[in-house]
Amino acid sequence: MNSLNPAVKMSLIGRSLLTWLDYSPEEIRFLLDLSKQVKEESQTGVVKQRFTGKSLALLFEKRSTRTRCAFETAFGEEGGHPVFLSTVDIQLGAKESIEDTARVLGRMFSAIQFRGFKQSAVETLAAYSGVPVYNGLTDLFHPTQALADIMTIEENFGPCGGKKLCFVGDGRNNVARSLLVICSKLGLHFTIITPPDLNPDDDLIQQCTPLSAASGAKICISPDISEVAGADAVYTDVWTSMGEEDKKAERISLLSPYQINPILMEKTGRGDTIFMHCLPAIKGEEVTIDVIDGPSSRVWDEAENRKHTIKAIMLATLGCI
Ligand code: CP
Ligand code: NVA
Repeated sequence: MNSLNPAVKMSLIGRSLLTWLDYSPEEIRFLLDLSKQVKEESQTGVVKQRFTGKSLALLFEKRSTRTRCAFETAFGEEGGHPVFLSTVDIQLGAKESIEDTARVLGRMFSAIQFRGFKQSAVETLAAYSGVPVYNGLTDLFHPTQALADIMTIEENFGPCGGKKLCFVGDGRNNVARSLLVICSKLGLHFTIITPPDLNPDDDLIQQCTPLSAASGAKICISPDISEVAGADAVYTDVWTSMGEEDKKAERISLLSPYQINPILMEKTGRGDTIFMHCLPAIKGEEVTIDVIDGPSSRVWDEAENRKHTIKAIMLATLGCI
């Protein structure tokens, strides 16, 4: 199994996860295999203490249920000490620069998780702390979510290479961008169905073009809903991400034709297409209740897989396996 590959294992020790652009397909494969192993341990009641003596700073500028709980429980149940630090409580951004905060946290913690607005903030934490830093969501990327999503696809359809994932909604948001990168690396065919105003930016598409050429992934960006034909998985996210609340009316107007409902799901032409959503969802807006709470939905598996994948990322990068 790839998770036993000692060279890949060594290459992951000490690494931050800011975006999947920084990881090779072999490294991502290793983390997926390790996530599967971690989930099996959890399901069979195997109790390990691999984070004993380690501590994790959890910095949050934005709200979170899944990401916070996944990091906190995955780390704590294996003997580690997670510390939740909301930015309303600490000096970061108010009296102290990100660089100095990073220097201090790096002296006290084994690793740092950051959820917030700017990608540059998580990059600065990684540059100045000297410990692994995990991007728990910025305006640009949500990499830990994308790993859980690929794990969920593999649980349903086997190895992800050659499968077709369609993201329908705000094509320029952090979740769509992260899926674009990870699919390009792993060889999943990835279609973003979005109005032209919400296309992902050209820079990212340029970065992904050679990656998809190498992996065999077909990347398609289209405003046409009929592109869901043949999809293994249809994915959506909220139309207005955290920090963009002033755009709500504009997004409803742009994205209403892109709602995931039974009619759209039928356009896949398949009876076994699964529905995915990173959550939290606004039921009745980007997806109808009958789809998200119906038999094709895998959103609760996806949410659970956040914990297993996040544990695997921390085990590998902290050298605890
Ligand atoms: N999917 C996700 O990141 O959920 P939270 O915002 O609850 O962490
Ligand atoms: N795109 C969403 C994802 C939430 C997990 C947001 O940034 O709010």
